[in-house]
Amino acid sequence: MGERTMTFTAIDRSNTYAVKWEEWKSRFGTEDLLPLWVADMDLASPPTVQKAMIDRAKHPIYGYTIYPEVYYDAIYLWMKERFAWEVEREWIVPAYGVVSSIHFSIEALTQPGEGVIVQTPIYPPFMASVHKHRRKLLENRLLYREGKYGIDFEDFEAKAKEAKLFLLCSPHNPTGRVWDQEELDRMITICRENGVKIVSDEIHSDMVYEKQHHIMASLAPESTIFLNAPSKTFNVAGLNTSYAIIPDKRLRKAYLNKQRKAGLGDGNPFGIEALIAAYASAQSWLEELKKYLKNNISFVNEFIAYHKLAIIPVKTEATFLIWLDCRGLGMDDKALQAFFIKEARLGLNSGVSFGEAGSGFMRLNVGTSSEVVEEAMKRLFDAYKKREVR
Ligand SMILES: Cc1ncc(COP(=O)(O)O)c(C=O)c1O
Repeated sequence: MGERTMTFTAIDRSNTYAVKWEEWKSRFGTEDLLPLWVADMDLASPPTVQKAMIDRAKHPIYGYTIYPEVYYDAIYLWMKERFAWEVEREWIVPAYGVVSSIHFSIEALTQPGEGVIVQTPIYPPFMASVHKHRRKLLENRLLYREGKYGIDFEDFEAKAKEAKLFLLCSPHNPTGRVWDQEELDRMITICRENGVKIVSDEIHSDMVYEKQHHIMASLAPESTIFLNAPSKTFNVAGLNTSYAIIPDKRLRKAYLNKQRKAGLGDGNPFGIEALIAAYASAQSWLEELKKYLKNNISFVNEFIAYHKLAIIPVKTEATFLIWLDCRGLGMDDKALQAFFIKEARLGLNSGVSFGEAGSGFMRLNVGTSSEVVEEAMKRLFDAYKKREVR
């Protein structure tokens, strides 16, 4: 696509078994709804990614597939050029998905009953994975002050004394925070002092708007498992192709042991092609996409401010997800969800599904066309007016 201005449009996803468009009917109990929840986009993947997969599909054998050297090179260059992090070939561990890698990391680095810190509100599988492995969930609630989230370091330090592992989400879903280097350094110091290992889920690291994203494992290579994927950035989440980068040999061995025990080995031929094509040739597409998403985010912010809705959008420093503080509407979580579904006819994620710390909030996915975002705001406004909520 070169330097030409790109256009993004929402694509009809019917007959593609898309979770976002199929599952909502059962999940929200209605057909009449705009689904703006699960974190993928209604926008097409980069043309180069589409072409790589179409070319691969033309070869009619889709058998077991190795991870070729070009796959490792693509990851190496992506990390180096975008984040100034030079990784070694053997640090890269191809994986199935970031969530499954969180599970393997928990098994590798902790024993049942041991403490794992998560920073709530948080992407739900963080909490679920701790519970499923019968580890102790240590909730370090983020501080929310004047529309911005920050870390409660006093509490973090207290929790670190009981913890073996810290599951970091960076950038943070759902709050959209991009952690500053000072914040990361402070967390590292506390983890080091208490012998706490770190698993850093950085799946949203390409979707950072103005700030610089810092890779945790580049700051604490001896104790961090870095997890990443092209899934969110290039809208290829269904390919289940992700990777870990683990600089420390012992951590890598422990992680690999668990991943292999689960029987995971070879790659997905389409996922491999998509990753290589995306990292090698979709940089300018990504910059255009970010401009487009930023416009969607600005539109929501401006719309809510202009119409003086009693909703505060938290500043989105990263991701295509807007965390809406809806406490001003004065509804409990059930009523809030019902208001969005039944009155506004919008399917958002309920904030409380991100933990109690998300009570009173909703998460809005704007990874779609500006027309759909405008329609969503119109629906919200109409429902709001009807209620005359102040
Ligand atoms: C923070 C975070 N981690 C992981 C995932 C999912 O990763 P995967 O599909 O590779 O398991 C998501 C998807 O929303 C996410 O937001």
